[in-house]
Amino acid sequence: MSQVAQWLDGLGMSEYAARFAENRIDFSVLSELTDQDLKDLGIVLGDRRKLLRAIRELDAEPSAPPADAAERRQLTLMFCDLVGSTTLSASLDPEDLRAVLSAYHRCCAQTVERHGGFVAKYMGDGVLVYFGYPQAREHDAEHAVEAGLDFVEAVPKLATPAGAPLQVRVGIATGMVVVGDLVGSGEAQERGVVGETPNLAARLQGIAEPNAVVIAAGTRRLLGDLFELQHLGPQDLKGIPGPVPAWAVLGARKVESRFEALHAGGLIPLAGRAAEAETLARCWAKAEGGEGQAVLLSGEAGVGKSRLIADLIERLASQPHRRLRYYCSPQRTASAFHPIISQLERAMGSAQTDSAADRLDKLDAMLAQTSPFITAAQTPAQRRQRTLDALVDRVDKLARPEPVLLVFEDAHWADPSSLEWLGRVLERAAHLRLLVVVTFRAEFASPWSGRPGVTTLALDRLSKRDAGAMIDRLAEGRVLPPKVRNDIIDRADGIPLFVQEMTRAVLEADGSALDAVPATLQASLLSRLDRLGDAKEVAQLGAAIGREFSHDLLACVAAKPIAQLDRSLDRLVAAGLLFRQHPRPHATYLFNHALVQDAAYGTLLREARRTIHARIVDAFESRFADIVSTQPELVARHCTEAGLIEKAASLWGRAGRRSFARSALWEAAEQLSRALAQVASLPGSPTLRREQIQLQLDLSNALIHTKGHASPETKASFDQARSLIEQAAALGEAPEDPLVAYSVLYGFWVANRMAFNGPVARELAAQFQALAQAEGATVPLMLGHLLAGISFVVTGDLAAGKSELAQTIALYDPVEHRVLATRFGHDVRVSALAWRAFASWALGDSEASLADRRSAVGGAREIGHAATLMFALSHVSLTLLHAGRRGEAAPLIDELIELADGKGTLYWKSYGLLLRGWLAALKGESVQAVEIIRSAMADMRSTGATGYAPWYLSILARAHAELGQFDDARRCISEALAAMAATDERWCEADVHRRAGEIERLAGWSAGLVARHRDFDRSSPS
Ligand SMILES: Nc1ncnc2c1ncn2[C@@H]1O[C@H](COP(=O)(O)OP(=O)(O)OP(=O)(O)O)[C@@H](O)[C@H]1O
Ligand SMILES: [Mg+2]
Repeated sequence: MSQVAQWLDGLGMSEYAARFAENRIDFSVLSELTDQDLKDLGIVLGDRRKLLRAIRELDAEPSAPPADAAERRQLTLMFCDLVGSTTLSASLDPEDLRAVLSAYHRCCAQTVERHGGFVAKYMGDGVLVYFGYPQAREHDAEHAVEAGLDFVEAVPKLATPAGAPLQVRVGIATGMVVVGDLVGSGEAQERGVVGETPNLAARLQGIAEPNAVVIAAGTRRLLGDLFELQHLGPQDLKGIPGPVPAWAVLGARKVESRFEALHAGGLIPLAGRAAEAETLARCWAKAEGGEGQAVLLSGEAGVGKSRLIADLIERLASQPHRRLRYYCSPQRTASAFHPIISQLERAMGSAQTDSAADRLDKLDAMLAQTSPFITAAQTPAQRRQRTLDALVDRVDKLARPEPVLLVFEDAHWADPSSLEWLGRVLERAAHLRLLVVVTFRAEFASPWSGRPGVTTLALDRLSKRDAGAMIDRLAEGRVLPPKVRNDIIDRADGIPLFVQEMTRAVLEADGSALDAVPATLQASLLSRLDRLGDAKEVAQLGAAIGREFSHDLLACVAAKPIAQLDRSLDRLVAAGLLFRQHPRPHATYLFNHALVQDAAYGTLLREARRTIHARIVDAFESRFADIVSTQPELVARHCTEAGLIEKAASLWGRAGRRSFARSALWEAAEQLSRALAQVASLPGSPTLRREQIQLQLDLSNALIHTKGHASPETKASFDQARSLIEQAAALGEAPEDPLVAYSVLYGFWVANRMAFNGPVARELAAQFQALAQAEGATVPLMLGHLLAGISFVVTGDLAAGKSELAQTIALYDPVEHRVLATRFGHDVRVSALAWRAFASWALGDSEASLADRRSAVGGAREIGHAATLMFALSHVSLTLLHAGRRGEAAPLIDELIELADGKGTLYWKSYGLLLRGWLAALKGESVQAVEIIRSAMADMRSTGATGYAPWYLSILARAHAELGQFDDARRCISEALAAMAATDERWCEADVHRRAGEIERLAGWSAGLVARHRDFDRSSPS
């Protein structure tokens, strides 16, 4: 008999075995079957319900903890202790004492079991209980507190030989621990827990009053307003540093809505969801008019179902209506009518009792007041039917005098009787002034969709924009670093709950990046993994590989029979934790949520992580060598995590250089920094020191583009390179790379050229040339001419500059010298051409200028190196605008800005914007011009660059003058003149003086003349 046939047999439905076999339904697809699938198989409604339930249970089967699996986990620990046990033992006969203790233990075990805890250890009269192990559940902290309250209530009622009622103290704390190590052997074997939390729970127990429950801050923050608490103030606890806040739990709060109790601190405004809110409002309008409606609101956990209902309720606040709200609970899936009884209890203000039978009796008694025939029913089945009838009638009656909004939340946890009730209410709804909103997660197959008057509303994840809006709201004016904000948006995957909790965690940590799953999400994420049995281990392996992983690689790392691995993967897919892309054997898998991946990875202990990463590295090297060469950064990460430092350093370096060559500038900077971080922890050797120098220079070159030529980071990096070179020289180690010394000189020259210091730039260029001439090698000589040429041009010695640049161009050989672009900022020839084009124009040779402009842009495009292209586009546009060729410049400027934006380089973007601002000024759009130039100027200066100031300040001054703002114009032009004198930046000296003159001329004219002048100026050719 097949496995599925056996399973059906066990359910008493073996008649379907043949149909399952014919349709090739095996265990791997069982959990994906929907109600419709079963209908298509010809299975009747009752059996479909039973089958779907059985499938759900199959998925939810908790697994026994693997034999040796210790894990990092967040647990809520409860420590209970009997009050006055020493006195008891002194006063009681040992046999009586034994009876007392066993009654106490039994009561504890029963209470804990009822609330889903795990008794880890009895220590005489002390008991340690885990909530969240071996199976995490979404509301562990809440269950622990409920268990504590029940226990302190039950213990004094125990009948024991002690005479007086027993008393107990309970302490509860939540935190990260390592749990699962087997301690002891045989009977005494237990799963130990290590961390501060057990001690904290024990100490809190110590300060509790008899028959009281005291909780720690970690637990308190998970409870919202679900319990009445009394703040006990800061406590000094032995063995725990600092005063510790503590709360006594006075009791459970009667809350109308769990959602509201958990959000007592207030809600941020609804982000997005306009269409969904509108649908709900429309359905309400219809319902109010007597055309009853139902909305089936589905979506994954935390996507915002309850929040949308809160929004609806708020919108209806001023309209007369009655609200009926029902909540299903994961702990009460088998407790008949649980949500309905709770609603009635709340409505009647009666106390909550725990026994399901008691509650049913109570329900009957309540209903009997209006429907006396219930208790007269003969059989339990009849009684149940009549109860149902009465409950449905109740909704009917309530909806007569005024419209009713009936919210049934979390139907995936509903007991069958409540579901039947809901189905009957829905059947009746059409003729009532009733809107029923049912919320549920994906695992619930709603049998009601497609019926008339029933709208299905599936909530999708939020857009990145809406997620961003949520973050900004939650931050309440505090600005998070953009990287941290983006990281939240990426990792939250559009789930509002994740956005919210990650943002809060970041805010609590003062804006620093998150390196762990927030405490408030631990239980919910872990519970999804714990349900998976053995498949969890596969999730952990996958998580170590990455958000996305291939079947092939996983199979290499997993060391498991393929069939077993595939079963686990199927299970992960069926549980919605993984997406499968492409069919097997070429399947790749993607974690549905980055946070599920983080949670799975987070449970692994350090040593286990290292071992898995080392296995991944092995697998890459032995089976996927192409990935090692094409995506070194992928393997480098695993080497780092596996502690394979040398390999990691070399791969990060390789990755950084590849990224830089491909103009992925930020990635390059990041990867090169990682390489250097790894190298720093290795023992020094000549080879390593050489590599370190090279990496430092590469990083400096990447930083030029990402942080700016003259930024403190770039300067520090070049300084570090120089000091590494000096250290190596002091050890008598000659550099392997002959250009090392030149690279450093280049770095200093660039910094002085950007944070403009003309004399120093010229002096450094001269030093460079002297060194090159002494050596006589082509590359240094060519570079020397370039540095000297640019230095001459920018300091206003145009003819000398032009001649140096001509020599650079003459020495350039594309085959040999193209590679220099990644070491000296930009392609050497393109740089020389771009500046010579300006010099030629300024010297009056327009034809030569035109030829150089074309060669510069054409050459840069051919090379395809982003930094070179940005260099060419900016300098060529600058010359074009000087030459009055606005039409030609405009598209190049647009291209520059777009490219710089894409590459994330602020320096080049601000250069592009300055050009755009000037273009606007030349077109007479002075208002825009002032605005653009001012903001671009600030951006450029933020990168540490002060070069070009005479130019942009003078065009800004001229634009102010056009607007009649002569004070601003004079201030700017004076600054331009002062900058020119101070730094010797004189390439545009004549223009600056001309603009100064024009400003004075305009200022001297009357307003009418200014206007006439403006018209005249615009009609002139440039
Ligand atoms: N569109 C939104 N704008 C702002 N906050 C939101 C939005 N959607 C959800 N939230 C917030 O995110 C959190 C999770 O939302 P909610 O509790 O409504 O999810 P849910 O779908 O009901 O999840 P569950 O299935 O666990 O009940 C809540 O704190 C809620 O206030
Ligand atoms: Mg909800």
